[in-house]
Amino acid sequence: MNRSSALKLIFIAAAFAGASLAFYSSRIGRLERVEASTINETTIAAGSDPAKSRAAFSESVKVFFSARCSNCHPGGDGPTQGDTMTPHSMEIKRGPDGRGIGEQKCTTCHQDINLDGDGLPPGAPNWHMPGEANKMAFQGISAGQLCRNLKDPLKNGGRKSAKDAVHHIATDPLVLWAWTPGNGRTTPPMSHADFIKKMNEWVDNGAACPE
Ligand code: HEC
Ligand code: HEC
Repeated sequence: MNRSSALKLIFIAAAFAGASLAFYSSRIGRLERVEASTINETTIAAGSDPAKSRAAFSESVKVFFSARCSNCHPGGDGPTQGDTMTPHSMEIKRGPDGRGIGEQKCTTCHQDINLDGDGLPPGAPNWHMPGEANKMAFQGISAGQLCRNLKDPLKNGGRKSAKDAVHHIATDPLVLWAWTPGNGRTTPPMSHADFIKKMNEWVDNGAACPE
């Protein structure tokens, strides 16, 4: 990654954190109030183009809504599967930490790599979904709601460092997996590079949200 795209990604993270007055960190195991970010929708609005921003978001949101991403980001308490986003077989539930309940831990079946063959589980390192406290649902909500959630630290990643939030979108194996899902599964409607580019465009132009 070159320096300017790294900076832009930090910018995205700051935009996520900056939408609220307070940004909470749980790195030491409890909620801790830290200083509000100076970057927010108002401060980055100078020279921005809300129409261009909204257009960029409306493009990139197709990735969030694609089955490969949305299957791990359901509205309910269990993952979904396939392009039809049907409930995961065997009544798998997320559990408090998103790693499954009891014997049905995600990594009992999901390995670090895709197991190729019909009916076999896909895989990537640290396979899990968001936990009960912060479900980060992409299913069952509008593009505008998803956009606003992304900027709300209490709904999306605010309880962790900005660095972690950047990490998930740009480099997290679970996000990258969506473009190499194995076993003939479809991939999101644009490349990972174009996705990051559109997300940057969204932030650079003021992180405006569709209705
Ligand atoms: C008992 C084994 C088992 C457990 C436990 C399990 N899975 Fe799965 N999972 C599978 C199999 C097998 C598939 C593949 C189904 C197919 O493609 O036909 C799958 C598919 C998926 C998919 C769909 C991939 C896609 O985009 O089509 C997701 C998402 C998923 N699992 C998430 C999870 C999560 C999160 C957990 C833990 C909370 C979990 N699974 C626990 C066996 C399991
Ligand atoms: C195998 C499950 C899985 C898949 C597939 C997945 N995610 Fe996630 N996603 C997670 C988990 C788990 C978290 C919570 C991360 C955490 O709290 O550590 C998360 C969090 C996020 C966040 C919140 C930002 C943050 O890090 O706090 C965004 C944005 C996101 N995912 C986008 C995507 C996109 C876009 C895709 C598809 C290209 C995708 N995810 C695919 C599991 C998944």
